[in-house]
Amino acid sequence: MCGIIAYKGKENATSIVINGLKYLEYRGYDSWGIVYLNNQKARLLKKVGKIGEFQGQNNLSNSCVAIGQTRWATHGKVSVVNAHPHFSCDKNIFVVHNGIVENYEVLKAELIKKGHHFVSQTDTEVIPHLIEEYRKNNSFVVACEKTFHRLKGLFAVVVLDKKTGEIIGTRKGSPLVMGIGDKGFFLASDVPAFLNKTNKVIFLDDGDMVHIIDDETYKIKNLSSKKILKKKIDTIKWSKEEAEKGKYPHFMIKEIKEIPEAIKKATWQDNKKLQIVVNLIKKSPRLFFVACGTAGHACLAGQYLFSSVGKPTGFSVASEFKNFFPTLDKKTLLIAVSQSGETIDTIEAVKKAKEKGLKVVSLVNVMGSTLTRISDYVLMLNAGPEKCVLATKSYLSQLSLILLILFSTLGQYKKGDKELKKISYQIDQLLENKSFIAKIKTLARKLSSVRHIYVIGRSYNYPTTLETALKIKEGCYIHTEAFAGGELKHGVIALIEKGTPCIIHLSKGDEADNTLINAMELKSRGAYIIGVGHKRQKDFDFFIEVPEVEEIFSLLVNIVPIHLLSYYIALEKGIDPDKPRNLAKSVTVK
Ligand code: F6R
Repeated sequence: MCGIIAYKGKENATSIVINGLKYLEYRGYDSWGIVYLNNQKARLLKKVGKIGEFQGQNNLSNSCVAIGQTRWATHGKVSVVNAHPHFSCDKNIFVVHNGIVENYEVLKAELIKKGHHFVSQTDTEVIPHLIEEYRKNNSFVVACEKTFHRLKGLFAVVVLDKKTGEIIGTRKGSPLVMGIGDKGFFLASDVPAFLNKTNKVIFLDDGDMVHIIDDETYKIKNLSSKKILKKKIDTIKWSKEEAEKGKYPHFMIKEIKEIPEAIKKATWQDNKKLQIVVNLIKKSPRLFFVACGTAGHACLAGQYLFSSVGKPTGFSVASEFKNFFPTLDKKTLLIAVSQSGETIDTIEAVKKAKEKGLKVVSLVNVMGSTLTRISDYVLMLNAGPEKCVLATKSYLSQLSLILLILFSTLGQYKKGDKELKKISYQIDQLLENKSFIAKIKTLARKLSSVRHIYVIGRSYNYPTTLETALKIKEGCYIHTEAFAGGELKHGVIALIEKGTPCIIHLSKGDEADNTLINAMELKSRGAYIIGVGHKRQKDFDFFIEVPEVEEIFSLLVNIVPIHLLSYYIALEKGIDPDKPRNLAKSVTVK
């Protein structure tokens, strides 16, 4: 939540930071702001709305140092005053921040007593004032150090000192990565913010403090030990094109089109690492999956898949993990799944499990993210950057990797790998099929005006129903509820009226007939039945055909039309599919 970026160097910092914020907009987009130095003057610009809509970039002066933030409001309403950067009374210290300063009320009261004047309702504003206070008797560096030690909570902070043009950044629980360019240095919440300038990065750890002194000099120090650190420079493999929309109107459709590639790339695992994970799974008497949102649905599928082969497997959404924690012992293997690797609840669950001595395997998309650094073993999803707030291709990567691990555990790696490659090809064909797309568009038009949709499926496709409901809720603002088919008669069926749209996920397997029976029960109560499956059903009102695959692989093929449906309904309703209201791509605050 919230994206921050800073640049100091020989290039024009103003446009680097504005462009970087456009890349980071997916992290929060209710307001934005930038401060840059020009002729020793600090120029501050803050606006409500999306940075992507800002046209005045060419009217801004050049500068060699700038910091900016795109906001997802936590403390204080969405307004120009509450937008970042925030500043000290003397307007010499400017701060952008991602996270929450939990003790801001105490700090604010203390600073007000000392005569500081606050203008916003944010927690962030205490930071520049506290630095200003310490700056009275200390250098910029020491003032920042003293301030950072007093902040409680999880945050990433970047500070600009107007007097010296120096930048200081630190992180504790929220992401901050440093870019090393030929002509200057970057600090940002996420690598794609500066990927068009450099792919050389330093992944900062919690408690690291970076001091960018000039275009060629920086120091990184550990805030507790005060030791100067020599940190490794990594090279990021993502290309800048991967992080751009290219010929597509939205990231969402680009990322849906990348699903076949994402499935293939999920199978590109280092065999040694995969084998280590497989051995751990075999050795552990119990597995426990943990994640949030879409990644949580992939984990639920993981629970179904491993349980079906006799492996005791648990799952909990990360925010509820503490309730199951007492049942886990050291022998349980925790598997955490996350696209961003920065989701706070998932990170906290992993930390808790590690304290108790559990081994943790993480399946993550973003290299160098917090989760990759706190887990014992990591398998990368290799899906490439996912910028649309709605997770699409990463869900398929997560499912594919879980399936590959399952097949490998059963000694059938080759079969799993072959099937996944075949499905990648089948989905590619599907996405190229014009009449298939036209059909989804027709359905999107029909559903764009409805108020409620119900979704049912059974067995492995129960997670698919939950993911279907999430995609339609968050992307199209339509109330959509998912149920296991068997639950219908236990109450849900009371909601069905004439014309109520119901999506039925069908697949081969034991539950196929029972699911069809459920569909007919809904139809006889007036529901408008929409089927997703490999075999057209003549009694259904609308049918979306997907490739015929074994039951366990239907979780891959059945969700793809739903991604498209969510995209086209959003377009019908005039919703920006990349940035639905109230959401941010990565949830880094509780
Ligand atoms: C939904 C969506 C979210 C994320 C969830 C976890 O489309 O994107 O539900 O899946 O916030 O995020 P990660 O996978 O980054 O941990």
